[in-house]
Amino acid sequence: MVATGAAENKHVSDRETNGDDIIAEFADVHRHYKMGDNVVRALNGVSMQVRRSDYVTIMGRSGSGKSTMLNLLGCLDRPTSGEYRVGGRDVSKLSDDDLSDVRGTEIGFIFQSFNLIPQLTVLENLEVPLFYQGKVGPESRKKAEYLADRVGLGQRLEHRPLELSGGQQQRVAIARALMNDPLFLLADEATGNLDSSTEGEILNLFDDLRAKDGITIVMVTHNPIVAVRADRTLWLKDGEVEKLIENPPRQLAAASSSPQAEANIAGDAAAEGENV
Ligand SMILES: Nc1ncnc2c1ncn2[C@@H]1O[C@H](COP(=O)(O)OP(=O)(O)O)[C@@H](O)[C@H]1O
Ligand SMILES: [Mg+2]
Repeated sequence: MVATGAAENKHVSDRETNGDDIIAEFADVHRHYKMGDNVVRALNGVSMQVRRSDYVTIMGRSGSGKSTMLNLLGCLDRPTSGEYRVGGRDVSKLSDDDLSDVRGTEIGFIFQSFNLIPQLTVLENLEVPLFYQGKVGPESRKKAEYLADRVGLGQRLEHRPLELSGGQQQRVAIARALMNDPLFLLADEATGNLDSSTEGEILNLFDDLRAKDGITIVMVTHNPIVAVRADRTLWLKDGEVEKLIENPPRQLAAASSSPQAEANIAGDAAAEGENV
């Protein structure tokens, strides 16, 4: 993701960054809410790009516009003005039905609360996104088995969510989000319900999916520990991109995280007040 005027993304500079590489893009996006005679400018001219295999986090204190941005990125809402392009296609004026199609085929959602269906097994939960598109069959079963294995749940295919730990449930949700081969994963506080060691395991899984499978990740978070895993953090303030925090390349960072980047982001979070 590159905000207007920001430095080029160092992580992709060694490969082609042609137009096709941009998979999601905001161009001067506004989202204003009318409240009686007042207008709340929840987003006020945000421009940014997400490239293939990017890992970006969106942070900012309460009321800065994170949820508004998440809803727009996830095609759950439309901009008041400006363009949102997904895979090169402007989706900012689509009908509800067309937006829903984009959601179902291009975006893999991951929520803080997992949102699994308790009555269904792991495999059945993975097939839910395809079920709604009438695509359940032997192939979807094979894909579900593959992805369950990919996230480390190859031995839990017939378990139901309540028979799994929180970390395992989030692994199911991550595999489910990948079932449609989405352009990008969109995560809302994906580790917010997990203890810190489980959080580390899930963040390692995101890292691995990105490194080995080229998965693209956009995550809204309050947590600097999460943000340091990303290439960069888009910091929102009053509906605008106040700053873009670039993390050092991961290969230069120690083991699983960079203490310096963590300190930078934690410092920014503190400077913005406790309520991020
Ligand atoms: N549906 C809505 N109607 C009116 N105002 C809204 C609505 N949703 C959000 N807002 C306002 O827009 C601003 C940004 O909100 P939000 O995107 O929820 O911020 P965050 O998720 O960072 O806390 C806030 O001032 C909030 O009160
Ligand atoms: Mg919010």
